Amino acid sequence: MPGGIAVLDFGGQYAHLICRRIRSLGVFSALLPHDTTLEELRRAGVAGVVLSGGPASVYGEGAPRADPAIFRGEIPLLGICYGYQLMVKAHGGEVRKAETREYGKSRVKVVEKGGLFDGLSSDSFVCWMSHTDSPTEIPGSMTVLAESESSPYAAVKLSGARQYGVQFHPEVSHTEGGQGILSNFVFGVCGAAKNWSIEGFLRSSVQGLTGIDGRVLCAVSGGVDSSVTAALLSRAVGDRLTCVFIDTGLLRKGERELVETTLGRELGVRVEVVDASERFLGALAGVSDPERKRAIVGAAFADAFEVFAKAHGPFEYLAQGTLYPDVIESGRATGPSSVIKSHHNVGGLPSGLSMKLVEPLRELYKDEVRELGRLLGLPDKVTERHPFPGPGLSVRVIGEVTEAKLRICRDASSIVEEVLREEGVYTGVWQAFAYVGDDMVTGVMGDERSTGRQVTVKIVESVDAMTADWSRIDASVLERISNRITNEVPGVVAVAYSVSSKPPATIEPQ
Ligand code: XMP
Repeated sequence: MPGGIAVLDFGGQYAHLICRRIRSLGVFSALLPHDTTLEELRRAGVAGVVLSGGPASVYGEGAPRADPAIFRGEIPLLGICYGYQLMVKAHGGEVRKAETREYGKSRVKVVEKGGLFDGLSSDSFVCWMSHTDSPTEIPGSMTVLAESESSPYAAVKLSGARQYGVQFHPEVSHTEGGQGILSNFVFGVCGAAKNWSIEGFLRSSVQGLTGIDGRVLCAVSGGVDSSVTAALLSRAVGDRLTCVFIDTGLLRKGERELVETTLGRELGVRVEVVDASERFLGALAGVSDPERKRAIVGAAFADAFEVFAKAHGPFEYLAQGTLYPDVIESGRATGPSSVIKSHHNVGGLPSGLSMKLVEPLRELYKDEVRELGRLLGLPDKVTERHPFPGPGLSVRVIGEVTEAKLRICRDASSIVEEVLREEGVYTGVWQAFAYVGDDMVTGVMGDERSTGRQVTVKIVESVDAMTADWSRIDASVLERISNRITNEVPGVVAVAYSVSSKPPATIEPQ
């Protein structure tokens, strides 16, 4: 990554966010394993390195370490939280467990302006802290730049070297001026030049993809990632691209029409529709265990896809909308220490097909993909869509998947999305949907007692789906959703709202 900023990954929940923030400054940034050596960083031609936060303690057994050579001063460094503590330790300072964990907003007083704090409008600012350990003694070679109530060493600089450390998280939006601090490091300290934009990515990506010398097959679902992959490839290879939309019977309301209109009619992409819903629903009959449902849907999808590819092929390439966090989480980029999320469809080539994998979005974050989609001419309705799980409504129908429950889930979810769009809050939340199980509750319809289903509405906020919080949505919005669902979805007499966060719950009910 010539001229870019490497973020060494010590396992902190905000490591991806650091990359995102630096990219939004117009400088390429990528996550690398924590033990990447100075030699590797030198060969990659990075302009600077950020050491991320992490859950470990620098004195803990097996704590992730950095190559000691990176602290010698050749490459500019910014240590954040755990990364800062490593830096202090590497230069001979002390790090200890604090008496109380400092978590949340804290006020920092700047004692030396300029440099990292260049352009700051006041002498103090609110920042986001999340740490148990903190430096208790800094080496003589370090000077204090800022202090907080609980830490005399909230930010430091190493004399004579371009190395800085901060105990707080500049990448988190709660830190006032955090983006300015990152910008001062990237441009002021590292001297990086702007080398990253989605327009530039689009140009070089289309140029690279035009080298594809065969036919390309791409499965589209109506979701953002597959739609953008298809639109990008279509621009590069034209009618050598074939898209297949497999209707599993487990999709959101109007999904097929959306794909046919936006990709097919508006962008001129060839989209073939396969209606396999009967096969999927047949295979799911009588099954209520969520993991079995996932396996069944995965296998049925691979089958349907293979049948299509054989009938319409040969295809030399298979295009997939894998994103950068999927590549990292699947361990393909950062090595075995990364968590593997079983439900990410990474590298999911159906067996029995030999096609080369094309993953044109594998360097991008989700919001960059949305921006790319807009540049490619996809409407906001597609680029702003919420994520939707691969197994579809089978994990939003609790227990056995039946036509009746699917209809309720689909119609009620569509109402949830519609109301949120009308209220202007759809894009501000991570996911919003309704789910249904077998609970039957008593209601009154007209003057009659009537028994019907209860659906649960779930609206969550999240930055990366690893954790999520329930949305404190206005009660009047919930009331509108509830009224519309009970009035418009036959068979439903009650609506509940989920106030569970992740953890302990997960986003999908199953
Ligand atoms: P959970 O339910 O694990 O969801 O909190 C985290 C994110 O992943 C999506 N999700 C899935 N995506 N296959 C997928 O492709 C799956 O089996 C699956 N399960 C959950 C979920 O919608 C959320 O965005």
